[in-house]
Amino acid sequence: MTERYVIAIDQGTTSTRCIVFDRRGQLVSLAQQEHKQYFPRPGWVEHDAAEIWRNVERLAPQALSRAGITTDQVAAVGIANQRETTVLWDRRTGAPVGRAVVWQDTRTDTLVSTLLAAPGAEQVQHRSGLPLATYFSGPRLTWILDHTPGLRERAERGEVLFGTMETWLIWNLTGGLHVTDVTNASRTMLLDVRTLRWSAEACDFFGVPMAMLPEVRPSVGVFGTATAAFPGVRIGAALGDQQAALFGQTCFTPGEAKCTYGTGSFLLLNTGTELVRSTHGLLSTVAYQIAGEPAQYALEGSIAITGSLVQWFRDQLELITSAPEIETLARTVSDNGGCYIVPAFSGLYAPHWRSEARGVIVGLTSYITKGHLARAVLEATAWQTREVVDAMNADSGLALTTLKVDGGMTADNLLMQFIADVLDVPVVRPLASETVSLGAAYAAGLAVGHWPGLGDLRRNWHRAAQWMPAMDPGGRDREYDNWRRAVERTFDWIKP
Ligand code: G3P
Repeated sequence: MTERYVIAIDQGTTSTRCIVFDRRGQLVSLAQQEHKQYFPRPGWVEHDAAEIWRNVERLAPQALSRAGITTDQVAAVGIANQRETTVLWDRRTGAPVGRAVVWQDTRTDTLVSTLLAAPGAEQVQHRSGLPLATYFSGPRLTWILDHTPGLRERAERGEVLFGTMETWLIWNLTGGLHVTDVTNASRTMLLDVRTLRWSAEACDFFGVPMAMLPEVRPSVGVFGTATAAFPGVRIGAALGDQQAALFGQTCFTPGEAKCTYGTGSFLLLNTGTELVRSTHGLLSTVAYQIAGEPAQYALEGSIAITGSLVQWFRDQLELITSAPEIETLARTVSDNGGCYIVPAFSGLYAPHWRSEARGVIVGLTSYITKGHLARAVLEATAWQTREVVDAMNADSGLALTTLKVDGGMTADNLLMQFIADVLDVPVVRPLASETVSLGAAYAAGLAVGHWPGLGDLRRNWHRAAQWMPAMDPGGRDREYDNWRRAVERTFDWIKP
């Protein structure tokens, strides 16, 4: 029998990848393409959805030919995508209406403040499991409908459609199927996170016509058959990229958690079929749903700026020329010299949810070198992780015992050791580094019977590296206290 493969499309914030995996979950080939980031005004971030689809069309044959296979050897394709990014398009022509507004975009901050004071705000937050913040698609959609003359009327007539990136890709892959999955839908604020149906009250609150919303489907289950990019191949799964990483890390049991360190960082804890409501600033979100089974939920601590702080250090301050150099520079000094950087570039996400916060550097003296700043940059990622782990422990009533990590920043040993130190738990990284793509592939393969069950996937997980905590408790407490005082400084910078 000819060997069969599964393909993942990982549509991320900065690039799109197509990756071919074999039956053991090993990466066979990879094709990747960055897309343009548009920053038309301070705080605005946009993508061209048409460019992203063209990239998928270009990457598909590359990934196949690099693997030396054809589409008839592909059992299924799975999609993992940047979440919350909002795309609108014309149902008839399929052309995007304006640019996609990206999850990092903060243009809705004034709108969010107004909505927070509006009647019904409490119920909308409760029903969606999310705090009202610029991060989510709902307010973004309101903003676009409010600022484009005639668009709401066209949306009411069903002429203009809404989707997050997986919806846009499936529409193009299938030539017109308008669907989403429960994980992506759970990031819009429009979904009732318990019933997994669009909430008419939430749509009313945000002024979103329900006619423009896609049909909500389980994450793992056949969505349809591709007619473009991978013609004839079934689309077996779609998940938000952070949920895909949870799946790729095989965190299928309640109590298992992972943190993915990319542009931002996202810590998800599987809470099983129970929806746990956070009282400490975390999100209650859908982890995944296998067709025919109840949904699995997660608590999530979302951190907006981690890897992108290193990018800022490289591209805006120009103190390093490549991201990995930050570790070398940080190792030129033995500590942060009393300096802390809180990267509240687009406000602070979990557990604070303060969109008015702005970044600070505190503790500057003439002693501080660029080495100290490099350390403060890396430490910011670790302390932000500590804040979300504290919130998670408080919400779940359980203390995290190990943290599974993945993503680009896990190549930085100094950072990984510092995270183990500040959390006081071991940090482990799996052999498979492309966890987001692997999760999408696993989910798609599971949907078509390529892998028989979750147990088979779990057996593919192998540890590649582990960092053990080694910081003295007194020093850790002092440093954490300093970090928290630095965070306080971010809140009162912008005058109301
Ligand atoms: O919620 C935003 C997240 O899905 C973005 O992930 O890896 O594309 O930066 P990434």
